[in-house]
Amino acid sequence: MSFHSFEQAPARLNRSELAVPGSQPQMFEKAAQSEVDVIFLDLEDAVAPDEKEQARRNIIKALNEIDWGNKTMSVRINGLDTHYMYRDVVDVVEQAGERLDLIMIPKVGTAADVYAVDMMVTQIEDARGYKKRIGFEHIIETALGMQNVHEIAAASKRNESLHFGVADYAASTRARTTIIGGVNPDYSVLTDPLEDGSRDVHWGDMWHYALARMVVAARANGLRPIDGPFGDFQDPEGYRAAARRAAVLGCEGKWAIHPSQIVLANEVMSPSEAEITKANRILAAMAEAEAAGKGAVSLDGRLIDYASIRQAEVLVEKARRIAA
Ligand code: GLV
Ligand code: MG
Repeated sequence: MSFHSFEQAPARLNRSELAVPGSQPQMFEKAAQSEVDVIFLDLEDAVAPDEKEQARRNIIKALNEIDWGNKTMSVRINGLDTHYMYRDVVDVVEQAGERLDLIMIPKVGTAADVYAVDMMVTQIEDARGYKKRIGFEHIIETALGMQNVHEIAAASKRNESLHFGVADYAASTRARTTIIGGVNPDYSVLTDPLEDGSRDVHWGDMWHYALARMVVAARANGLRPIDGPFGDFQDPEGYRAAARRAAVLGCEGKWAIHPSQIVLANEVMSPSEAEITKANRILAAMAEAEAAGKGAVSLDGRLIDYASIRQAEVLVEKARRIAA
């Protein structure tokens, strides 16, 4: 390991993260009753400009009055380039900061953006005497944010997670997309001619670089990488495929922009029974080796390396949280 150390963000379950517009308070109760791990009440892009103030009031009331159980609660504030943003932070944190776990910062572009919000939140928390510190989740969804993702990830002790906002990212980079978070047949390769002269088309994942870059920045700073939206909520198979690709790269959760996507995210982002069993066996083998004073740990005739042991510990801890 490097001599450089970093703290891990608080271990929260973040397999699924439901977007709920602050202007739709009739959706709040259903969200509170759902199986989702994290809810973000939105003040940004799902709310029209003339509804921003009412949405803010709805969110404050809902945070204080609805029983959200053990869900992690977040509010997506407006961007730092708008005049809504300071009121979002001041009103929501002052009036509902006790129940708020996270603030989601959209279109974050530089470490200084994070610093500015951190400064505001710190002042409000101190003035109110809150004991708990509110964490930050950042949406990486602009070319600038992706360029500076490493500095953003390291910019505040409040940072907990990075999210890939594929819709705005496509707009910002002028990528050619079809549906939000989906793939584009133009991003494909042709095989060389086969024996019969025909050629196969292999579709590629146009989001690979962006997602992988964000995962590295998140993990190198102890944060959770989370994949963003998949727009077609009538295509569960498409959602599953996108979620699986993100999970393979290291993401531990994905957004749900519709309640039907929660179960899909939880399914893909939870360890399987077989993985949990294997992880428990690895840890048992390690405990046995330790008790016997052996340096090397083996299981089923194979040597287990320390990376596998650490992975097993993380997985077993996650399974414990899911079962709790
Ligand atoms: C999320 O905010 C996105 O733009 O994808
Ligand atoms: Mg966006």
